[in-house]
Formats: sequence, structure tokens, C-alpha cells
Amino acid sequence: AISAQIQRSQSTQSPEPNSLTATQSIQPVLRSDYQPPAYWIDNVELDFDLDPRETLVTARISVRRNAQQSSSTLDLAGENLKLQSVAVDGKRLEQTQYQLRDGGMTLLDLPESCVIETKVLVSPVTNKSLSGLYQTSGNFCTQCEAVGFRRITYFLDRPDVMTTYRVTIRADKQTCPVMLSNGNRISQRDLDDGRHEVVWEDPFPKPSYLFALVAGNLKCHRGTFTTRDCRNVALEIWVEPQNIDKCEHALVSLQKSMKWDEDVFGLQYDLDIYMIVAVNDFNMGAMENKGLNVFNSKYVLALPDTATDEDYMLIEAVIAHEYFHNWTGNRVTCRDWFQLTLKEGLTVFRDQQFTADQTSAAVKRIDDVSGLRAGQFVEDSGPMAHPIRPESYISMDNFYTATVYRKGAEIIRMYHTILGAEGFRRGMDLYFQRHDNSAVTCDDFRAAMADANNVNFDLFDRWYSQAGTPELTVSEAWDAAKGEYALTMTQSYPPLPGGNPGTEGRKPVPLPVRVGLLDAESGEEIEQHGGVVMLQTESETYTFGGLTAKPIASVLRGFSAPVRLRMQRSNQDLAFLMAHDTDSFNRWDAGQTLATKLLLDAATGVKNGEKLKLSQEFSDAFGRVLSDDSVDEAFKALALTLPRESVLGQEMDVIDPDSLHTARQFYRTRLAETFQSELTALYKNLAADGAYKNDQKSINRRRLKNVVLAYLSALETPESVSLVADQFNQADNMTDKQAALSLLANLDVPARDEALTAFYKKYQSDPLVIDKWFAVQAVSSRADTIEQVKQLTTHPDFSVDNPNRVRSLIGAFTQNQVRFHQADGAGYKLLADYVLKIESANPQLAARLVAAFNSYRRFDETRQTQMQNELKRIAEHPGLCKDVHEIVQRALH
Ligand code: ARG
Ligand code: ZN
Repeated sequence: AISAQIQRSQSTQSPEPNSLTATQSIQPVLRSDYQPPAYWIDNVELDFDLDPRETLVTARISVRRNAQQSSSTLDLAGENLKLQSVAVDGKRLEQTQYQLRDGGMTLLDLPESCVIETKVLVSPVTNKSLSGLYQTSGNFCTQCEAVGFRRITYFLDRPDVMTTYRVTIRADKQTCPVMLSNGNRISQRDLDDGRHEVVWEDPFPKPSYLFALVAGNLKCHRGTFTTRDCRNVALEIWVEPQNIDKCEHALVSLQKSMKWDEDVFGLQYDLDIYMIVAVNDFNMGAMENKGLNVFNSKYVLALPDTATDEDYMLIEAVIAHEYFHNWTGNRVTCRDWFQLTLKEGLTVFRDQQFTADQTSAAVKRIDDVSGLRAGQFVEDSGPMAHPIRPESYISMDNFYTATVYRKGAEIIRMYHTILGAEGFRRGMDLYFQRHDNSAVTCDDFRAAMADANNVNFDLFDRWYSQAGTPELTVSEAWDAAKGEYALTMTQSYPPLPGGNPGTEGRKPVPLPVRVGLLDAESGEEIEQHGGVVMLQTESETYTFGGLTAKPIASVLRGFSAPVRLRMQRSNQDLAFLMAHDTDSFNRWDAGQTLATKLLLDAATGVKNGEKLKLSQEFSDAFGRVLSDDSVDEAFKALALTLPRESVLGQEMDVIDPDSLHTARQFYRTRLAETFQSELTALYKNLAADGAYKNDQKSINRRRLKNVVLAYLSALETPESVSLVADQFNQADNMTDKQAALSLLANLDVPARDEALTAFYKKYQSDPLVIDKWFAVQAVSSRADTIEQVKQLTTHPDFSVDNPNRVRSLIGAFTQNQVRFHQADGAGYKLLADYVLKIESANPQLAARLVAAFNSYRRFDETRQTQMQNELKRIAEHPGLCKDVHEIVQRALH
């Protein structure tokens, strides 16, 4: 029916827009090249005639020349579009009046203002890149950030062009009973050919990346929210019919987020309706489209039997994150994509604060810093190191990174630390006052924070332009005669692999360092000396007077700046801080520092063939934590957990995954043996909680229980195995079940296969749970893991088209330090094969996976060569997509 309406097809662009055909440019986009657009858009009308293979998109764009520019030429971006016609002010253009080129169309001799109408065909069902308009589980859905809108229609697809949208959707009423877009639904009617039509209008001007359309067979879980100004907002969570009973947690999370943003930032929601749609095929977590968020179903759907406590927490955090974008991202957006951290760093900081307020601030901080160290620190020391505001990119999708998000949030946190909550709020208020409804830069944000508080944040600019993690070296001096204690702090940047923008001439950054002094006798806080010192230069000495004895310093409390802290400390001092620090983060961190020292020594011991021995100091400290009843269970769970292998590896000159794994396993087993009776008693106590409850106390107790169970399972005795198997069999919730299953997955016992089989049978029809089933096998430390993973790629439930499934098997496997880095290189080959298998269909996902090779220079020569060879094999692949091309080129550089 659609094709019949079209008179003639003028041109077809390359069917593989992401691949590097000879004509296609791999020139990077540079931050310094920013130019305002030649034209602005006053409004746009979009018509969609939805069809799986041939969706007709008609766009009427009212454009007006930018007064600062005099050009009558307009470049519109467009990719993978079949152009049917183009007209200006109702007059169809001849082929001489426009030029089609790779990546878009150029219109010549345009008047000062006019209406451009284009008609294009797109094919949602064959779009496996999950960017633009695509089909997922038979429904239509869009993803436009960063540059997906150009895969829907020709447009000024850049965030500084904000406009209002009116969207008409027509589709078959049977297969698409529900048709959604941004803003308010203003009309709906049946058409005569079994199709129906709906019109949506969004009153707020927005950039194209916030456009969304969803259509299909969906059911709605409804709620409401009343704003502080007493406006009623309809809340709608749209899911596939079979998931309708899994939405309540998401709804409550949304209501909590809306309330929190009013309470903490005075920010109210601005439309009468807020919709969230859950889809199964999605490249990332979720997307903050105005009034119509699209979510990976993983961050919406939850019941106690299918989602873990961690899943519940992540759902709440991601719902909050996307909701908070309504102000930090949508009302005030980014001028260009280099400014991404303007919205992402800020919104991550906001969602972190929200979660801290809902749960425990200390535990949340520890979780976030562990994540930063395991992910962002690695990125920031390798070939992809970039400033939070990058200088160049080939594919913008490659810059949705831990650095832009998580380090970006740390930079925002430093303003908050320096200004306090009230000063930060003043800065936010001024930011919105100045920039509501506009597209701005990181400099504008920094200026608002500074101006609202009459402070100078000029030096903060360096945090935006320099790559790499600074090192903060701290040394202490005690002058007994004067009663003075001094801390000398020095900052520096370790070198980065060559060719990184932001590496040359890096200067000292402003570092707020929260410090406290503890009385070495009593362990009490010396109150008058607590606070934040600002290190703004390379090196500074801070002296604390009026002391009668040498204190014990607690430095970088709350992880007040994103640096690697280097401070020589005795094991006794670390044990002292573990026992007495009033700052929970540093209390935990002292234990991690001690464990890191000892585990690295043990790893060296393994390498030298020495007989390992559990350190008495560590064992004593571990025992004290175990029996300390003054801390909550979640904190205790964290304090009893040894640093991850990926974090330990960063501290080695040459990462040796095998001896690290052996050393860590040795410690786990020896600690379990030493404290067997205490651990068993604690487990029994925690396991006696009875039926599942989801209050914070119960969640904390489950967290601790499963850490304790992990120690007990390391004993690998028949009793410990049946303890784990019993928990697996009797669990009435996914947290306990998955915890037990992942422990069993490491073992070589019949209970392992029994559990895996039972789990699969029970949850076969629930893809999110089956993702867990794949993942526990992929992260198993068993020697046959690579074989198992290969086998699983042929499992009928494995699919290369579903990003969650690929991540749960291949992605999880790359996190398996000991097996991915197996000495024979088989893990590397497996990854490279998969990257090549999916790169042309889904470049974004392939680029994420291939980044697992980025740390190859940190390994021994054999592994380096193996990884380098795989990278070269990928680089030489004919027609390699530009996303993967960018990552491997930077790695090989
Ligand atoms: N803006 C989304 C968020 O809330 C993420 C979009 C990611 N886009 C991408 N192309 N990777 O964080
Ligand atoms: Zn975001």
C-alpha cells in the first residue's frame, strides 16, 4: 500500500552506512570545528506510515536562516534513507536543486525562510543496529541519541537545533493498537483501510535526539503523581502484555524520583503525561526522550522471583536518572556532542545522590567508587583515555563512556564538596535561570556555579580538558617539639599511551581533599582538624598544630576527588583506620588498601613458587570486621569482600591474571577455614530471616548472607556444597537463587549441573532471567569455561541480535579475568570472532565488546602479542564499521 503512493524512487543510498566504503570519510569530528547552524528550525511536522519493510516518513520542516550566517546552502543529515521526493514551499525540487551525498543532502539557493518537505522510506525490520526506527519483538521503536534521527529523516540532526514537533502516526490497528510519541496526544481516529491514526504534539522545543516513537501491542501499568503546584501527571509504563505484572517497582521508583527532584532541587515535571516503554532489544540502559522514555526491559521489569536486590536498585537508579534528565539534558541540553558530560555527568551525580538518600550514603559511595576504579580508571589509563569533554571522535557512540559519565559525575561532586549543598543549589538555580530551553556548554555550567557563589572556578577547566587519572602522593611529618603534624600533598599525571589528546602539558587540577585526624590512643576524631583542604598547585604542605601526640590521618575521605591516592602506610595504621575511622568510605578503603598490599605480595609469591601464608594482620582485621556489630550488614558485606581481580591487576607492573587469581582464591579459602565457625553461625543467623521481604534491612542482610556464603563455598567441602545447593533449592527470591547458582557454577560437582538445568527449566520463558543463566556460566572460574561459552553460542536461546543476550554471554566472559586472559589465547580469539560476527549489523555493540582488548599493553609479552594479533585481524576486516575501526585504531596506535 505504501509503495503505491510513491511515484518514483529517486535514489538509494549505500545499504551499509556504517561501513567504510571508499567514498566514506573516517575523518574525526573535532571539538574546535564547532560552527552554529546555517538555519534554525521553527517547527517540524512528521508523518509516519508505519510498515515493517517500507515505512514512509514525511517531514515538513519550517526553516529560517540564522541571522549570524549568510549562506543559502543547507546541509541536512540523512543515513540509510530512500529518498522519494523533496519540495520547498510546496514546489517539488528537480535533481539539480539538491545534492545527495554520503551522510546527507545539500539544498542550494534556499530563501531566507521556507518549508522543506521530504518523503523517505525506511525499513525498520531489517534495522539491526538499533539506532533510528527499528522493530523489537514485533513492535516499532526508535533510538535517536546521539545521531539516530538522521536514520529516520533528513534533518539538522544536531543538539543545538531545538524545535517543536507535531507527529502523526498511522499503522495497522490490529498489530499496532498503541501508538506513542512525545508530548500530548491531541487526536486519534480510525482510517478506512484497517489502519488508525494518532497525532502527538510536544509543546517544548527539543533537539532531534530526544524524539521518540513507539507503536505496537503493549499494555499499560498506570499511576499518577501530583506536583508541588498541584498538577496531576499521568504516569504510564508500557510493556509487552506478558510483563504487565512486573511494573509496580518501576512506577514507585518514578514517583520517588519526581518527589526527590522537587524536594532537593525544586524541579517539577512540566507535561501532563510521562511514559516509559520497556523493550527487549536495546543497545544501552535507557533513553530520556521527552515525555516518552524508552528503556531496556532489564531496567523496568521486576518481581522478587525474577529480579535480584541489585536489579531492584538499578531499576530505581536508572528510572531516576532518565527522569532527572528532564531538566538536566532536556530543558537545558548540550550545544554539541563534545559537551555530553554536561548532561550525563550531572545527571549521574543527581541519581547517585538520590540513591544515597533512599538507601545508605556510605554504601552507595563505596559501590560507586569501586565501579569507578574497576571501569573508569582502566579506561583512563589506556588507549581510549579521553577528557570528560573529548576533543575529537569518529563515532560519537563510542564516547558514552565511564569517563564521560562516572568521572564526569565526580567532577560535579567536587563542586558540591567545595560549595556545600546550598551553594551547589544556588549554582543549579542560576544555571536554569540562565539557560532554560537552550543548548549550552560545560563552560556555561561552570560559570553558573562560580557566579552564583562568587568563587573562581577557572582552574576547573583543566578537569574538562585533561585525560588520565591524577596521582595524589601524600607524605606525613610529625614535629613532637612543636606539636605539629604536617601532610605534604603532591599531584602528578602518569604517562598515557601516545597519541591521546589531552596528554600533552597537563597541569595541576584543583583537588578538594577531605582530611581528618584521629587520636592514635583513643581512636577518636580530633574535631578541630577535620575538613576539606584545596590543593590547587603541584604540591602543598598542610600543617595541623596544637597536638600532644602524633595523630593518624584519614586522607581523601568520601573519595573527595577522582585520583589514585599514594600514601605509604603501615599495616598497623591501615588496621587502625579499619577499626576507628569515622568516615565510612575510608574505613572500608583502609581494608581494601591492606588487602591489596597483601594480595599483591601473595601473587608475587605464587609466581616465585613460594608457599603462601595468610597474613596474621589481615586475618585479625577480618575477624574484627566479622564480629563488629556497630556497622550495618551492607557495610559489613563490603568490608569483608576482597578487591576484585581487575582492580588488583591495575597495581601490577605487568598484570598476571593467573597468579592473581590463585592468590585471591588462596586468601578466600584460608579466611573461610580460619573463620569457619563464625561464618557458619553468621550465615545461620542471616538465613533465619524467613519469607522474602524487600525493606532495606532485609536487602542488607541478604547482601551479607551471600558474601558469607561465598566464603563458605570456597571451602569446597561436601557440607559447604550442600549449603549452597540448599540455598539454591529453597530460595524464595532471585537474589538468593542467583547468588547460589553463581557459586555452584564455579564448582565441579553434580549439584552444579543439576542447578543449571533446574534454573533453565524454571525460567526458560523469561529472557531477563535466562540472561543471568548465560552470565553465571560465562564468569565461571572453571578451567573449561571457554569451551562452555563456545557451546553456549550454539544454544537455541543464544541470539546475536539481542544485545542483552550478547552482553550476558560474550560481554560477561570478557570480565572473567582468569578465563578471558587464558594463556593459550583462546579467550581472545573467541571475542574477536564475535566482534567480527556482529560488527556490520550492530556497530555500537561490537565496539563496546572490542574495548575489552584495550588494556593489552598491561600484560606479559605473549598475551600482548595474542591480543594485538586479534586487534590486527579485526582492523584488516574488509568494510569494518567505523565504530569498531575507531576503537581498534586507537588501541593499535
Ligand atoms: N542518554 C542516555 C542515558 O541516559 C544514553 C544514550 C546512549 N546513547 C548511545 N548512543 N550510546 O544515559
Ligand atoms: Zn543519561
